[in-house]
Amino acid sequence: MKLGVFDSGLGGILITRAIREHIPDIDILYLGDTLHVPYGNRSEKAIYTYAERCIDYLFKQDCQLIVMACNTASASALRRLQQEYLPRHYPHRRILGVIVPTIEYALERGYTNIGLIGTNYTVRSEVYREELRKINPAIRIHQINTPLLVPLIENNGMKWVEDVLDDYLAPLLTKNIETLILSCTHYVCLKDLIRQRYGLHVIAQDEIIPLKLAEYLERHPEISTVLSRTGQTDFCVTDLTQNYLESASFFYQSPVQLTHANIHAEG
Ligand code: DGL
Repeated sequence: MKLGVFDSGLGGILITRAIREHIPDIDILYLGDTLHVPYGNRSEKAIYTYAERCIDYLFKQDCQLIVMACNTASASALRRLQQEYLPRHYPHRRILGVIVPTIEYALERGYTNIGLIGTNYTVRSEVYREELRKINPAIRIHQINTPLLVPLIENNGMKWVEDVLDDYLAPLLTKNIETLILSCTHYVCLKDLIRQRYGLHVIAQDEIIPLKLAEYLERHPEISTVLSRTGQTDFCVTDLTQNYLESASFFYQSPVQLTHANIHAEG
């Protein structure tokens, strides 16, 4: 059995790379729903439909555990998948999102004045605000949706990113935030730039998810012991182009073979 990693597109490869570095032997199957990326502007219904098909595919490919690396899908579809889909179809398998581990990390460090950037869906869902305040109502969270960042990162537009970030982050820089949560797979690419340019403390999910995953596997030997460990990583996407191939290798920082997973036959 394998570890599945799912993202709306290719940004989750950054998380996969970090998992691979932290847990070198685990077998990983990555799936990016490139046919439908970006999820960030879509409706809850559409995101759920796409995410369920992708999760189903990964389980059929013998994934025992899936990391849903996409914040947008974690914000919209994860709870329903865990509460309705899993018990009905795969009661002994598990899906982990990225939002709860990120929140746990922020809480463990005692932050109470937090900034966050994410997709339109993630920010408007208010999921971070609600989850953080459930645990500590005194926490203040200042959120900005930053929808231009994913297309810039995916299309080799880093030379414009600084101007766009300056504009997006200006209101947050006046709030004395103690940390900035990068609530999108792709923003891992921006963490060093943000740290250097704005002197902000940044919570980047590639630095959290592998650690939280390793802790989870330690707590759950029934999952951990069924995972095969030959160090293999396979990558598949729901739409395959030369551009995706180049981006995948860029994100993984070494050449990647992508295969086409034909799982959205009816669109
Ligand atoms: N992977 C998405 C996320 O982490 C970003 C791209 C998208 O909008 O689909 O939210």
